[in-house]
Amino acid sequence: MAAATMLLSIALLASAAAATSPSSDADAISRFQEYLRIDTAQPAPNYAAAVDFLRAQAAAAGLEAQTIELFAGKPLLLLKWPGRQPALPSILLNSHTDVVPSEPHKWEHPPFSAALDEASGRIYARGSQMRSLGVNLDMLALVNRIAYGCFCTDMKCVGMQYLEAIRRLRAAGFTPDRNIYITFVPDEEIGGHEGIEAFVESKEYKDLNVGFVLDEGLASPGKEYRVFYAERSPWWLTIKAKGAPGHGAKLYDGSAMENLMKSVEAIRMFRTSQFDLVKSGEKAEGDVVSVNFAYLKAGTQTPMGFVMNLQPSEAEVGLDIRMPPNVHVEALERRLVEEWAPSSRNMSFEFKQKGCVLDNFGKPAITPVDSSNPWWSVFEEAVKRAGGKLGKPEVFPASTDARYFREIGIPALGFSPMANTPILLHDHNEFLSKDEYIKGIGIYEFVIRALATHNDDARDDESRAEL
Ligand SMILES: *[C@@H]1O[C@H](CO)[C@@H](O)[C@H](O)[C@H]1NC(C)=O
Repeated sequence: MAAATMLLSIALLASAAAATSPSSDADAISRFQEYLRIDTAQPAPNYAAAVDFLRAQAAAAGLEAQTIELFAGKPLLLLKWPGRQPALPSILLNSHTDVVPSEPHKWEHPPFSAALDEASGRIYARGSQMRSLGVNLDMLALVNRIAYGCFCTDMKCVGMQYLEAIRRLRAAGFTPDRNIYITFVPDEEIGGHEGIEAFVESKEYKDLNVGFVLDEGLASPGKEYRVFYAERSPWWLTIKAKGAPGHGAKLYDGSAMENLMKSVEAIRMFRTSQFDLVKSGEKAEGDVVSVNFAYLKAGTQTPMGFVMNLQPSEAEVGLDIRMPPNVHVEALERRLVEEWAPSSRNMSFEFKQKGCVLDNFGKPAITPVDSSNPWWSVFEEAVKRAGGKLGKPEVFPASTDARYFREIGIPALGFSPMANTPILLHDHNEFLSKDEYIKGIGIYEFVIRALATHNDDARDDESRAEL
């Protein structure tokens, strides 16, 4: 047994050494650059070019490819690496092909040049890192990306790292037990409605018998990789106040503005209490309810501006609230009805969007990150064996495609193996170090190998034997 393990380790080392030769690394980098150069920025992503490129990559990696077009012009590429035991639940490695728009004039390196700076080893591109931003109703998604530092030309790094890891595993003669699927999906940046949301409802998806999903996470400025097991749900809320209009010189109670400002004060106090928990380190960003003001609207307009001596009869505020999965929803709803928009103060509210914190079975939409979830244990152990360090699992502060899997009860982790990578706010020069990119491929090699061979039944037998 020990000898066999040793032989296996030697074989692994040998294959790892072969796979990471400088020339093959250089090839991997140029393939990544090629993908980055395809302009898939919202709102007019060139999906056709991305899919053509990826189909060629899939062929080179020996994978079966199928393009699924649930919506015209929105191709989803499904790749398959068949396993020896196709009846086992499969693994799905998901990534999206679109990236957020950029402002090219603010970049030192044009965002789709994928320029490699030889001195620093940095690859500059939109989407070389990771997170999402949206437009109109889905503008939300776009803004997320910006604020949370979408590097990897968003998610293009992760998608290519999956493929590179599979190339290496195949070169080492590895065959998975279970089927491995890789999806490249459209429209994540604008909410995923015509992308992964539609796909998880399709017959094509159901036929995959997916047991576990990997999707995107966030780059980490420190040494530890970040991993996400849930995400906050957006609540977009408008609150309206009505009140008697009056002369601007008069002090009286019950004006719309006064009624609204009382709410604004209460909301700000709540916001401060949540933010303080983050500032003191008691809670992580994803574990608190964030509340931010999206707009304030009031006043009586004229072509010259606003009427200055009139107190208006209506005033309104728009809020972007993000709800962690384990939050007491009823408590916040009561706060809304009693403090933030009480009808007794002539106030009303309306949800523009109210994301559900529960899955379709009424449970919090979270993927367990303890021994109750065998996929987690396999994942955690594989990252460790690959020489990577995981930080404490987190709730993703904004939204990703992974939520659509958790909603239907499929465990999904958000993971982008990019450490030592600064997350630059308003990042006009998104970059990823090529060494981190190559290191990430090695991490996926271990992770995919472990997930591909994990046998849940055997594990059950073992625990039964222990009993
Ligand atoms: C609410 O509106 C009614 C009718 O306009 C008014 O009589 C009342 O004083 C208002 N209450 C408040 C708190 O503004």
